[in-house]
Amino acid sequence: VIPRSEVVVQRLMQAWLLRRLRRLGVSVNGRLTIIGAPIIDSYPNSTITLDDGVTLVSRSWWTALGVSRPVIIRTLSPGSSITIGAGSGLSGTTLCSAVGITLGKRVLCGADVLIADTDFHPIEQFPRVSLPLPVGIQSDRIVIEDDVFLGARCLVLKGVTIGAGTVVGAGSVVSRSLPPGVVAAGNPARVIRALVSSVDES
Ligand SMILES: CC(C)(COP(=O)(O)OP(=O)(O)OC[C@H]1O[C@@H](n2cnc3c(N)ncnc32)[C@H](O)[C@@H]1OP(=O)(O)O)[C@@H](O)C(=O)NCCC(=O)NCCS
Repeated sequence: VIPRSEVVVQRLMQAWLLRRLRRLGVSVNGRLTIIGAPIIDSYPNSTITLDDGVTLVSRSWWTALGVSRPVIIRTLSPGSSITIGAGSGLSGTTLCSAVGITLGKRVLCGADVLIADTDFHPIEQFPRVSLPLPVGIQSDRIVIEDDVFLGARCLVLKGVTIGAGTVVGAGSVVSRSLPPGVVAAGNPARVIRALVSSVDES
C-alpha cells in the first residue's frame, strides 16, 4: 500500500513537473503521468515528444520491482529526437539519443532498461575521453514498435529495430534487430520462440 505522504508529494510534483517540461520545449500530447522526478534534458534543436497516456515512474514505491534510478530522457545533439508512443510505460528507464529513438504505442519498459543510439565515445580514435560524441548516422536509429515488452534491465543498442509485440527477457542485450511477435532473450538477445498470441491490429 502506497503511504499517503507519497500520494500527496506526488500530486504536488506532477503539476510542477508538467510546467517544467513545457518550459523545456517537450511536446506533451495529452495526458502524462509522472511519478517521482525524471531527468529530461533536451539539446538545442532536438525534439522530445510524449504522446497521450505515457507513464514515467522514477520512484520505487510505485512499481513492484522498484527502480535504481529516475527515468532519464536525453537528446544529445541537434536534430536528434525521442518519441514515446501513446500508452507506453517506463520505470527507471534511460533513453539517450544522438540520432533518433522511437517507441511505438503501449511499449512497456521494465525497471532500469537502458536504450541508447550512440556509443558515447569513439571506438577507433584516441584519446577517447577528450573527443566529442561520435557523429550519429541514420542507421543508428532505434525503433521499438507497438506493444513491445522489454524485461527489467535490458540494454538496447544503436541501430536496432524490435518488431511489434515482441517480448525481450530480463537482462538481455539487444545488439541486432528482432522480428515481431517473438520472445527473445540473452546476450546477445536471440529468438527463443514465437508468441502464441498475435497483436490485435484494431
Ligand atoms: C523472457 C521471458 C518472458 C520468457 O519466459 P518463458 O517464455 O516462460 O521462457 P522460459 O522460462 O520457458 O525459458 C525459455 C528459455 O529461455 C531462457 N531464458 C528465459 N529468460 C531468459 C533471460 N531473461 N535471459 C536469458 N535466457 C533466458 C531459459 O533459460 C530457457 O532456456 P532453455 O530452453 O535453454 O532452458 C522470461 O524469462 C523473462 O525474462 N521474464 C522477466 C520479465 C520482466 O523482466 N518483468 C519485469 C518487468 S518490470
